[in-house]
Amino acid sequence: MTGIHADGGAAATGRRADGGAPADGHDRGSPAEELLVAEELHRAFGPTPALAGASLTVRAGEVLAVLGPSGSGKSTLLHCLAGIVRPDSGRVTYRGADLTAMSDRELSALRRGQFGFVFQFGQLVPELTCLENVALPLRLERVGRREAERRAAEWLGRLEVGDVAGKRPGEVSGGQGQRVAVARALVTAPRVVFADEPTGALDSLHGERVMRLLTGAARDTGAAVVLVTHEARVAAYSDREVVVRDGRTRSLEPAA
Ligand SMILES: Nc1ncnc2c1ncn2[C@@H]1O[C@H](COP(=O)(O)OP(=O)(O)OP(=O)(O)O)[C@@H](O)[C@H]1O
Ligand SMILES: [Mg+2]
Repeated sequence: MTGIHADGGAAATGRRADGGAPADGHDRGSPAEELLVAEELHRAFGPTPALAGASLTVRAGEVLAVLGPSGSGKSTLLHCLAGIVRPDSGRVTYRGADLTAMSDRELSALRRGQFGFVFQFGQLVPELTCLENVALPLRLERVGRREAERRAAEWLGRLEVGDVAGKRPGEVSGGQGQRVAVARALVTAPRVVFADEPTGALDSLHGERVMRLLTGAARDTGAAVVLVTHEARVAAYSDREVVVRDGRTRSLEPAA
């Protein structure tokens, strides 16, 4: 296993100006593979239109930042991409398969097997230790306890929180909890990690550390990251940025 990039500064973000092959030579399949494609999504909550024609493509291995003001529809877009919220109209495909045509059961199997999630407040299970929290997605996939906990411990180590394995979430700091949450998101080797304001509750120092570890680990494993954030400092860790305004998307860069 390769290490997580630990040096600070712009180079550590590994931003790839060309959006092409990763600079470190890891083979992650075709860099141009379109993993997730959302087309013309509309979604209203009662009279409130949250999405009004949002379109977005997530490519294999890229870190894509989704920016925009509060209430613009960022979280709703992320939830539609992840098959958590069904759009009223429009289409989302994952590797060519239409999410909008899948049953709830198929969607949850897809989420468990292919996706990882990090939210603003870790959303760890308070009754479980940090180790058990990270092992949980593997247990849900029927991996045996011993093997699941071995892999969970390895991921806690990679996220530099091996020392909190036996503690419960209420006994660790916010930054440590988010690193545990990142370990939990990555432990199943997902193709896509959805991160909604993953550093929103942290100070800048701990936020940077979480971002460095999240994007480093994603690059090492080839996972794509869909990163919702308000903060330019956090978006600097991405390869590409998309802005959501009034439920519509706008790319900041010309399509590759
Ligand atoms: N479950 C819901 N029920 C009712 N309205 C909702 C729901 N989810 C989102 N909305 C509304 O849809 C719009 C878009 O919300 P969304 O949460 O996607 O915005 P956001 O860009 O993620 O905002 P923030 O940056 O504050 O998290 C808002 O007007 C919001 O109030
Ligand atoms: Mg939101």
